[in-house]
Amino acid sequence: MPEIYFDNAATSYPKPESVYETVYKFMKEIGASSGRGAYRRALEADRIIYGTRRKIASLFGVKDVSRIIFTANATDSLNLALKGFLKPDSHVITTSMEHNAVWRPLKRLQRERGIEITPVQCASDGTLNPPFIPPFFEKQTKGGRGDLADAIKTNTKLIVSLHASNVVGTVMPIKEIGQIAKEKKIPLLVDAAQTAGVYPIDVEELNIDMLAFTGHKGLLGPQGTGGLYIREGIELEPLKEGGTGGESILETQPSNLPDRYEAGTLNVPGLAGLGAGVSFILSEGVPKIRAKEIALTQHLINKLSEIPEVRIYGPKDAEKQVGVVSINVADYAPEEIGYVLDEVYGIMVRTGLHCAPCAHRTIGTIERGTLRIGLGYFNTEEEIDYFVQAIKSIIRKVK
Ligand code: ALA
Repeated sequence: MPEIYFDNAATSYPKPESVYETVYKFMKEIGASSGRGAYRRALEADRIIYGTRRKIASLFGVKDVSRIIFTANATDSLNLALKGFLKPDSHVITTSMEHNAVWRPLKRLQRERGIEITPVQCASDGTLNPPFIPPFFEKQTKGGRGDLADAIKTNTKLIVSLHASNVVGTVMPIKEIGQIAKEKKIPLLVDAAQTAGVYPIDVEELNIDMLAFTGHKGLLGPQGTGGLYIREGIELEPLKEGGTGGESILETQPSNLPDRYEAGTLNVPGLAGLGAGVSFILSEGVPKIRAKEIALTQHLINKLSEIPEVRIYGPKDAEKQVGVVSINVADYAPEEIGYVLDEVYGIMVRTGLHCAPCAHRTIGTIERGTLRIGLGYFNTEEEIDYFVQAIKSIIRKVK
């Protein structure tokens, strides 16, 4: 039985060989912590951490490398951004497609700090469209720019949006949202968990003030790595205090970045591996990675569209989504289909609500969830064809 991994939206697999080699080599031959010593191996660890920071800064168009903060994952980054930034009684605008990594911290802040949340309603394919509406039409547009701009109030302190949905792959019009944010002088926080590494991101061009990313999905690094870009001028309260390796005499967190938000020993092996993942991306080039993602995603959508029993959610247009496709098969529970795919066909997919009930309410699948195919750079059309044949066989057998 083959082994086909279609859960790249949860974590990418496989990674480039250089990622495995770099993690192993670091652990075996260097092993020291960064920022904690002046001996040669500790300095080598510093160099590795700086290298990963520099590569990520270059990938996202960030000029000041110190404004990339390392965290454990996108959830960690979003918690720091939201809880570190939102003061009592602030108003925040978000979308109806958010992952729990945004929604749960916001709900906690609503309970504890009395913040007010406006989730702008997206369409049932997850889109917040159209990308540009002339001002005259703004107010008449449902689920569009008009709604987002209309939601702004005098106490609106933040707009937070995911870049692409982890349920249906829909890409949000971040450039247009960034334009509104800039015009209204409201900071924009973007959750790039599903786009970093596979979709072009330039924080200047998109007017992003904070970018939360994970290292273990599109960036091809190990789990336990991630980060947050914080634009100059944005002040966050650190969520944790502790050792930073420098200014140890202070009783408070140092004010310099990245130390202010990086208390405790960093995951150096993971970040070394992340550096190798980002090197791979920089050498392939995001446009090439995105082009392959579009080709694979459209192939999958086209093949699935030929099966009458399959319902596909989302835009059904690879140009408008990342490599995440959610489906249901007739009236069968997604878990049952997922189980058979794994047991009988060796195909790994994720089923259920994918930690994003808001998105499932928006697309109308809150009761049973979906079966999600998360494509990655190393998947092939042959694997997709095999998957489609497997779905057809399952339908034939249960009919
Ligand atoms: N948020 C990740 C997913 O969608 C873990 O599977």
